[in-house]
Amino acid sequence: MNYERTLYSSGAPLEEAAGYSRAIRLGDFVFVGGTTAVQADGSVFAEGDAYAQTKYILEKMESYYLEAGARREDVYRVKMYVTDISKAKEVITAYSEFYKPIKPLATMVETPKLNRPSQVIEIEIDALIGSATKKVTEDRKDPARKTAAQVVGLRYLAESYERSIKWFREAQILLPTLSQLADPSTIPGSLQGALAKVDQNEAHPLNLFRLHWYNALDYAWRVRVPEHIVLPKELTGVDARIVLVLGNRFPMVSCHKVLAAYACLVPRIVSGQFDPARHRAVWPSTGNYARGGVAISRLMRCRGVAILPENMSRERFDWLERQVDNPDDIITTPGSESNVKEIYDACRELARDPGNFIVNQFCEFGNHLAHYQVSGAAFAQVFNSMQEKEPGLELSAFVAASGSAGTLGAGDRLKDDFGAKIVAVEALECPTMLYNGYGEHNIQGIGDKHIPLIHNVMNTDLVAAVSDQATDGLNLVFNTEAGRAFLREQMGVDPAVVDKLRHLGLSSIANMLGAIKTAQKLNLGAQDVVISVATDGAELYTSEKEKLLAQSYPTGFNDVHAAEITARHLAGMGTEHIEELDEVGRNRIFNLGYYTWVEQQGISAEDFEARRSPAFWKELHKMGADWDEMIGEFNKRTGVTIG
Ligand SMILES: Cc1ncc(COP(=O)(O)O)c(C=O)c1O
Repeated sequence: MNYERTLYSSGAPLEEAAGYSRAIRLGDFVFVGGTTAVQADGSVFAEGDAYAQTKYILEKMESYYLEAGARREDVYRVKMYVTDISKAKEVITAYSEFYKPIKPLATMVETPKLNRPSQVIEIEIDALIGSATKKVTEDRKDPARKTAAQVVGLRYLAESYERSIKWFREAQILLPTLSQLADPSTIPGSLQGALAKVDQNEAHPLNLFRLHWYNALDYAWRVRVPEHIVLPKELTGVDARIVLVLGNRFPMVSCHKVLAAYACLVPRIVSGQFDPARHRAVWPSTGNYARGGVAISRLMRCRGVAILPENMSRERFDWLERQVDNPDDIITTPGSESNVKEIYDACRELARDPGNFIVNQFCEFGNHLAHYQVSGAAFAQVFNSMQEKEPGLELSAFVAASGSAGTLGAGDRLKDDFGAKIVAVEALECPTMLYNGYGEHNIQGIGDKHIPLIHNVMNTDLVAAVSDQATDGLNLVFNTEAGRAFLREQMGVDPAVVDKLRHLGLSSIANMLGAIKTAQKLNLGAQDVVISVATDGAELYTSEKEKLLAQSYPTGFNDVHAAEITARHLAGMGTEHIEELDEVGRNRIFNLGYYTWVEQQGISAEDFEARRSPAFWKELHKMGADWDEMIGEFNKRTGVTIG
């Protein structure tokens, strides 16, 4: 612990003569000594007036602790000595104007006399820099449970906050709020105009305002309804409408993980915890989040480090190598998709260096919250646009494969707003949720053998497992000429739909299969809509396709191969490997997370348990508004204006 002591003087001659300080900073503690209403000229302010003196003193004291690096929210104790306790009400009125929302410990005692008869009150204040939790939204029945705000742990760190302000001001970076990303039509027109001139793949800070689902494929500014595919029965074999919202329209990385990366980092910036001048942002993932993180780091002009398993697709590494200036900023860990533990281990090593700031998508609640608020609203807009045309439609389920479980947060929103069931998908070759199993698979982007801390397991309704043989095989059908011709000519799939299947990467195909399985399991009909996402497109898996073609079809891939694959993995898909969760099932999956988070990663059992309560998530979902306020305040302080 740092016990460095800094002394602050008001310049009053008595401090020098007697030998005392007005305030002392001791490490991160700030103490403001007994202060009365003596003015700079030595006279007493508002002689005998308890209310006016209290206010005057509190203002004066605030200027001292601010100078020492503490904010009003960091004050945890106020001691008041009054010469006439019958004036308590006046004192409290003035006190409340400052500290009512902060709720520090408070003492008020009567003392016979102060230094001069005209002084009616003397005050002491103690603060701990960074101890404030901004806006604790209290809404809980169980007083033993920690609130979402306590678990998320956003505390102001004044010094680095000020450095960040300077950094963003100098780099002229404006931060979008979550509500602007949820509804980009609310982004000011001048900014939209400036953004239209910026290429979507340029590392330009304005591209932060493209972190939403409303980008058109050609990036002509914005579409009214997020681009999506409604998969026809000829392909899915079910009556229910299976809808995939397309994620390869996000800037820089052509996949939605760049939104998660922003959402994990931005609360840490606007609370002063991440210091762009001092920290390297470290982005652990099985691929796309690390790319998204490096993109965000570049947009914010700070240093980003990608950590990902060595066997991820070549396209991911090609992109990273083009983006980072220093090759040390790409760290590979052993294994592939299912080796998340190895990524955690690498993070633990890196975290020893205080210059590294680990932005862990598996436990940063911003990941869940952004998908709840931004993706949830976008997917609702897709459904609403369908319902406008067909009023009888119902949003029956939201399906998403779980990597960090961020995307599943959109399901929480769709359940709140439409009563949709939430379905979590995983690889059959590594069925952590379904069978508590283990193994290797190739559905890149959905990590496993662990339950992410940000997964609202107790709100999940079904878990489904999909084989990577199905996703690898269908990747060939969807992305070879023979396969496409087969779909058009022999299965009768609309050519326009076949053309769009190139927007489905491996995990998107898993989502599609999980959605079909859900429709089968729940007996959904033509009025039911199942929404899912195409998190990235096939363009990220060309090398995987070539590898499989060379290995399994050395003499060429033809319509017979396409027929075999679709017969087995589409028409032949049944309702095996899917479970409707009851309370026992949910608790089983929830408890499995204990081993990763409490035993391995040092999360307290209290923080871990808090997430079992629905009230925790309700509080979390309300925090988006607080964060937006903090982002707004931060932008105001940087003074950056665009357009
Ligand atoms: C391609 C792909 N699909 C799916 C996912 C899973 O999304 P989430 O991490 O939000 O659960 C990821 C996450 O990295 C991904 O990269």
